[in-house]
Amino acid sequence: MIYKASVIFLSTLAITLAQDEISNKKFPENFMFGTATAAYQVEGGWNEDGKGENIWDYLTHSNPNPIADGSTADISCDSYHKYKEDVAMLKELGVDHYRFSISWSRVLPNGTADKINLAGVTYYKNLIKELKSNNIEPLITLYHWDLPQVLQEQGGWTDEFIIDAFADYAKVCFELFGEDVKYWLTFNEPKQTCLYGYDYGSIAPKIYSPGVGGYKCTHNLLRAHAKAWHIYDQEFRAQQNGKVSITIDTPWFEPDSDSEGDQEAAERQIQFTFGWFANPIFNGDYPEVMKTRVAARSAAEGLNQSRLPEFTDEEITYILGTHDYLGLNMYSSYMVKEAAEPEIGDPSYDNDIGISIYQSDDWETGASSWLNVTPWGIRRLLNWLKKTYNTPIFITENGFSDIDGKLNDDRRINYYKNYISNVRNAIEDGVDVLGYTAWSLMDNFEWMQGFKEKFGLYQVDFDSPNRTRTPKDSVAFFKKVIETRCLVDVCEE
Ligand code: NOJ
Repeated sequence: MIYKASVIFLSTLAITLAQDEISNKKFPENFMFGTATAAYQVEGGWNEDGKGENIWDYLTHSNPNPIADGSTADISCDSYHKYKEDVAMLKELGVDHYRFSISWSRVLPNGTADKINLAGVTYYKNLIKELKSNNIEPLITLYHWDLPQVLQEQGGWTDEFIIDAFADYAKVCFELFGEDVKYWLTFNEPKQTCLYGYDYGSIAPKIYSPGVGGYKCTHNLLRAHAKAWHIYDQEFRAQQNGKVSITIDTPWFEPDSDSEGDQEAAERQIQFTFGWFANPIFNGDYPEVMKTRVAARSAAEGLNQSRLPEFTDEEITYILGTHDYLGLNMYSSYMVKEAAEPEIGDPSYDNDIGISIYQSDDWETGASSWLNVTPWGIRRLLNWLKKTYNTPIFITENGFSDIDGKLNDDRRINYYKNYISNVRNAIEDGVDVLGYTAWSLMDNFEWMQGFKEKFGLYQVDFDSPNRTRTPKDSVAFFKKVIETRCLVDVCEE
């Protein structure tokens, strides 16, 4: 979202890799194929049956409405009423799993565990039951950006009270639903929550606090993640036998040249983007390069301490190892060049990184400003993740947006085919990939873009009271891939 193409660039490497042949290797039988959605984006029923208000309800109901098309997700796909149709679509696709999220304020309308909304619990129980009876494994995200508004009014993610509030909520969910759930994610894309929500101020709750808010939010979010993981580990794992992790998003960052400066800049960029969240969980503490740079720039700004908060030794140990796999959301790539050190002035996360970044004009783009088609990037990223964290990876999102949402969506098919092929190549390279999740099952509310950018395999008619769902061509494509575990006509056995 933040990065803009600035220079015309032709990467011979990129072109060669983009034209890679489609893999003719089968995916292993136990490899999991699925699709995803998130509560606020599809459910609707925003104030039904006792649900509390969340920060997206609040934002979309504010005047003037800041969403690109002036929409809200008050009804959206109406999955709150139509979940059986959703599951029928999943069945038709033949998926192994369905990733969806629980709306915190639907289960706990006050944000706190003292009041549980039975109707909300029943909704998720029914959805899980419907999935299980169709042999579809639920993969549940606890937090996909929709904080109860009442908790935001107490300070939200930049206030420490949120750690216990989230842990209580997670415990309620493990207790109520955990018997039927094998895969949990605590957070979806924490960078979006913290950087865009509390630093750039571009998504809910739209707090503008550059170079400060994002770090504070992350410091609480990581401790909240760790606490939820420990609760599961100590109180539920033995009986429920599931896996808990976090999903982190990043594009791939390709160095602009072989020069040491560009290589170092690309590594620094991914450490600030991905390592910020993954390093404390997988390797212990924030990445060295983040600690050093933010401390140095904070000192130069005249501050007595770093804007990047420090973990205590106990916290480092407490957070380290709180994963049972790694969730990854990946869509695009960027080219990275070294740059002169940004001048000291007002604090800024981007200046803390201090590199230069661009997308090649040569790359095909989707409807979303940040989305480009660089399938080779996912293979490189998966290899980088193996080298850096050496852990099983579940791809929890990947997909393509268009504006019209038309049924004949060849560009989406092409995107999926090439990305999935590169995932298969990464497996061949030795990366342990557990599954692949297409974003999204159906067109839905794309946050600040409203219904303007469409990612669905199924089209949704938002003008019909029925919210009629119709399969796009990509449904037949994905269905065949799942059925045959193969991307070409005949695969090697
Ligand atoms: C990121 C988010 O997890 C999801 O909510 C969003 O719709 C897609 N990727 C596409 O932007």
